[in-house]
Amino acid sequence: MRKVIYPRTGGVDSIEIVECPEPVPGPKQVRIMIHRAGINFADLMMRQGLYGSNPDPPFTPGYEASGEVVEVGSEVASLSCGDRVLAMTGFGGYSEQVVLDSNRVIKIPDSVTYDQAAAIPVTYGTAFHMLVHLGGITRGDTVLIHHAAGGVGTAVAQISKAYGASLVVGTASKPKKEFVESMGVTFVDRDSEDFVRVCKEKTGGKGVHHALDPVAGRNLMESYKALRKGGKLYLFGASNAVRGDKRSVLSAFRMWRSTPRFDPLKMMSSNKAIFGVHMGLLEDESIFKGHLATLSGMLLKGEIEPIIDSVWRFEDVAKAQLHMHDRKNRGKILLDFSPK
Ligand SMILES: NC(=O)c1ccc[n+]([C@@H]2O[C@H](COP(=O)([O-])OP(=O)(O)OC[C@H]3O[C@@H](n4cnc5c(N)ncnc54)[C@H](OP(=O)(O)O)[C@@H]3O)[C@@H](O)[C@H]2O)c1
Repeated sequence: MRKVIYPRTGGVDSIEIVECPEPVPGPKQVRIMIHRAGINFADLMMRQGLYGSNPDPPFTPGYEASGEVVEVGSEVASLSCGDRVLAMTGFGGYSEQVVLDSNRVIKIPDSVTYDQAAAIPVTYGTAFHMLVHLGGITRGDTVLIHHAAGGVGTAVAQISKAYGASLVVGTASKPKKEFVESMGVTFVDRDSEDFVRVCKEKTGGKGVHHALDPVAGRNLMESYKALRKGGKLYLFGASNAVRGDKRSVLSAFRMWRSTPRFDPLKMMSSNKAIFGVHMGLLEDESIFKGHLATLSGMLLKGEIEPIIDSVWRFEDVAKAQLHMHDRKNRGKILLDFSPK
């Protein structure tokens, strides 16, 4: 079987595909033939050595995948060969086959496609964790999201709507205006418009209830300013550290230097809260599983519907990642590992 590896820190030209033996499941594990794996912005940062919580190279990236169970360990009662599943791989999802503990594998209903299953965990799980679990979003709330056209961005738009948000303001690159507006989101050009002004104007001068920031650097203070009193800011990424597909230590340093350090006393007087969010480092996995159970119900009821930007054969993984580096994606990018 074949898998993608990051042999060292580098640009997309450093990615390799290697042959390796089929993995053998232990008693509590299953072997899965992967059909789809999700690409996340974190995968790009890991490749550049800017992520901080991935294994040392060489390793296989890939947080999430969907596929079919093809072998079951002797102590596994909950899964059978032929089951269609979602696999929370942690790492290693960019692979034709994986072996995983059965408690990291969830059966998917017949009506859910492999595309949908691989597109939901990281993006919707993260959006749900912030808005619902931490934020307690309620009807009439107002939301600001950056990279509004991307994987997490589209999930935030849909979950906000499902929970009755009255306004979602979304920043993105200019060519994505029409796409962002088609989701009922107020578009702000990330390069030329002032999202703080738009958030204030649209909320009678008060600001939004929830500001979700995956950018960091100076952008974070602006997101904080866009909040109303009592509002909540969520820092969940640092895309400002990335410039193109090659690692830029200078950009990473600038991002780190320009990210504000907040004063809790000032926060107290405005009743604002700041959450740091890293789903990959959640200690209690049952929280994430709970989110997936709720999201699965929402999917079946039609309250959410993953938007798939594109599906690439895994042999084209470098081109697929470049598509995200070039800021071209509208929704989720997937890799196709299905047997030809
Ligand atoms: N903390 C967590 O647990 C967690 C989980 C999932 C995702 N995240 C974060 O959420 C953000 C979105 O992730 P995603 O996987 O859904 O990606 P995505 O939004 O689907 O794709 C990336 C988008 O980010 C924007 N962007 C901003 N700076 C960029 C740069 N330097 N290079 C390339 N694109 C850039 C581009 O859109 P525009 O140009 O239109 O803005 C691009 O299309 C990332 O910062 C990621 O690290 C965090």
